[in-house]
Amino acid sequence: MLTGKAMLAGVTGWPVAHSRSPLLHGTWIARHRLDAAYVPLPIRAENFATAIRGLADAGFRGVNVTIPHKEAAFAVCDEVMPRAHRAGAVNTLIFRDGRIIGDCTDGFGFLASLPAYDPRRGPAVLLGAGGAARAIAAALLDAGCPRLTLVNRTPERAEALARALGGPIQVSATPPLEGAALLVNTTSLGMAGQPPLVIDLAPLPDHALVADIVYVPLETPLLAAARARGLGGSDGLGMLLHQAQPGFEAWFAVAPVVDDELRHIVAADIPER
Ligand code: ATR
Repeated sequence: MLTGKAMLAGVTGWPVAHSRSPLLHGTWIARHRLDAAYVPLPIRAENFATAIRGLADAGFRGVNVTIPHKEAAFAVCDEVMPRAHRAGAVNTLIFRDGRIIGDCTDGFGFLASLPAYDPRRGPAVLLGAGGAARAIAAALLDAGCPRLTLVNRTPERAEALARALGGPIQVSATPPLEGAALLVNTTSLGMAGQPPLVIDLAPLPDHALVADIVYVPLETPLLAAARARGLGGSDGLGMLLHQAQPGFEAWFAVAPVVDDELRHIVAADIPER
């Protein structure tokens, strides 16, 4: 039930029908009994800027931005938050006082999905060099990770990412697992329909954590191997749920929590394989 004062937000993408964000934000809206709605907004790339300004003019509080708009979203912003500059992408827009503010919450979501992890604790190894890799690498470095190694099929892409971010970041052809505190997969390997990620986890120390950003399936072959070795970590759903928090709080002025109930509701919408 909405009143004339309802707060509006949504997710922009093309296509957008696959997005779990309406389910996720809708669950929080219902939980907090807010006079609010979060809707899917299918917007073609060529209409993005016009549509965003229109939504802001129509009183929306803001939107999430997904493929293919994460880079185009920069151009419509009046202000881009430092962590979005570092991530090279905007996934959350906040419309406030006639201004459009861009944020990137992916790195925050990644770290929040690993509550037991302190990036300062030791070296990290990151597989991949795409958009997700950049947001996570920036968050790790900015949280004090002492050494970050990128491993990517196309090494030039990893080199470019390392140069763009700067700091204690290097590129390697093989993952230096010995002594690593964290291993993260940001490639699409292990995703349903893709080849599995083949990596021997034996050299990882017993305290190492293993994280995967893939969430279809929830337990990738990498995470199954980590579990078999007794290693903790997080799956891609954890990051998906946590990256939604800052936007929800900015638009609706309520800090929502990620808990088992929310996880179950969203996980029920994810195919097993
Ligand atoms: P995203 O923005 O979601 O991170 P992306 O930019 O397409 O997506 O990046 C996908 C990542 O998965 C890249 O690191 C890619 O490696 P390349 O840079 O060499 O393309 C990696 N990837 C995808 N398919 C792969 C495969 N079959 N083997 C190894 N790496 C793969």
